[in-house]
Amino acid sequence: MNKVNFLNIELEYNEKVFRPTLLSEKCALNTNFKNKNILDLGCGIGPLAIYFAKNGATSVDAIDIYDEHLKFAKKNSDLNNASINVFESNLFENVSKKYDLICCDVSGVKEEVARLTGWFPEEVPKADDSGANLILNVIANSKEFLKENGELVICTTSFSDEKSIFTAFEQFFPDSYQKIYSEKVPFSKRLNQNIDILDRGSFCKKDGINYWKFSIFSLSNT
Ligand SMILES: C[S@@+](CC[C@H](N)C(=O)[O-])C[C@H]1O[C@@H](n2cnc3c(N)ncnc32)[C@H](O)[C@@H]1O
Repeated sequence: MNKVNFLNIELEYNEKVFRPTLLSEKCALNTNFKNKNILDLGCGIGPLAIYFAKNGATSVDAIDIYDEHLKFAKKNSDLNNASINVFESNLFENVSKKYDLICCDVSGVKEEVARLTGWFPEEVPKADDSGANLILNVIANSKEFLKENGELVICTTSFSDEKSIFTAFEQFFPDSYQKIYSEKVPFSKRLNQNIDILDRGSFCKKDGINYWKFSIFSLSNT
């Protein structure tokens, strides 16, 4: 079985699943999760949920739409003696509680970029051509599942329609959102090879190197 180390947590995976990325790691390290009841939305093979559970969260529910991810999230939580409650849900469809923190790293990359980078194996559920449809749905519906003063942490990339995401921040969380982390990442060989099909606005160039960007936002249910 293949294993990957995520912030000192060993996770099993196979070729059909999404493997935790730099974004997963920065999300874990920049989220204020201690003593909170958490929903990990789009949990993949479990990195964030397990990290939160092992480092001071009060409780962690972890949901995903893809059965292979649910299987590995459960297996990895057992292997790491982490107490998390894993269940299937298409976004909030099967969620009935309110949380202190919803951590959302749901697929937020345009479908064609998800494929060409190799980040999303064929079977892994992807966003649409805008890269923003899942994120927009979460922003529009999350208040129902947040306690008063609860927080939605949401991850975006320059490979999604960030303009529509910012408009939704303003519509559903007016004046109560802030960027908590952002990082420029140099293009992989595969991205450079496919640069002709990328939107010019989705990357920047500095000193001859192309970079894409990811950001993490905190939205407060005040
Ligand atoms: C970018 S991956 C992140 C996975 C994990 N959070 C990590 O850091 O490794 C996005 C996740 O969203 C899940 N996903 C996609 N569409 C979904 C939906 N409609 N409802 C729930 N989860 C979904 C995918 O299966 C995948 O696990």
